[in-house]
Amino acid sequence: MIAIGCDHAGVEMKKAVISALTEKGYELKDMGTDGEPCDYPVIAKAVCELILSGECEKGILICGTGIGMSISANKFKGIRAALCSDSFSAKYTRLHNNANVMCMGARTLGNGLACELAEIFLSTGFEGGRHQRRIDMIE
Ligand code: RB5
Repeated sequence: MIAIGCDHAGVEMKKAVISALTEKGYELKDMGTDGEPCDYPVIAKAVCELILSGECEKGILICGTGIGMSISANKFKGIRAALCSDSFSAKYTRLHNNANVMCMGARTLGNGLACELAEIFLSTGFEGGRHQRRIDMIE
């Protein structure tokens, strides 16, 4: 199960990402917002808690720039949130950082790219090895 959330800036992009991922067979838990103006830290917290409890394996967070969501998500111990806007980063943050949350900016990316980045993020595994040592240092 994948947790997903956005603030009011990211509603249309979130709909596009949910639709693309559902088509690929992913199951998603949508933590809002459905359109109402909201504060992004509240949504980031809801998504991060689902991951930390084990209910969801990964999360996707969308706000205007993706920055507020990434700052918020990285306050939670055990969350490694990566702000991505290119496919290399979406792939390597899984391979090397074992990122469990990806953040994207709805005002900086197109929906097509966002859907592709989400698929890369969710389908790429962690390489482990020397990268695990570095993650242990972060934790
Ligand atoms: C909301 O207007 C905007 O500040 C928010 O979506 C985000 O970009 C913050 O980082």
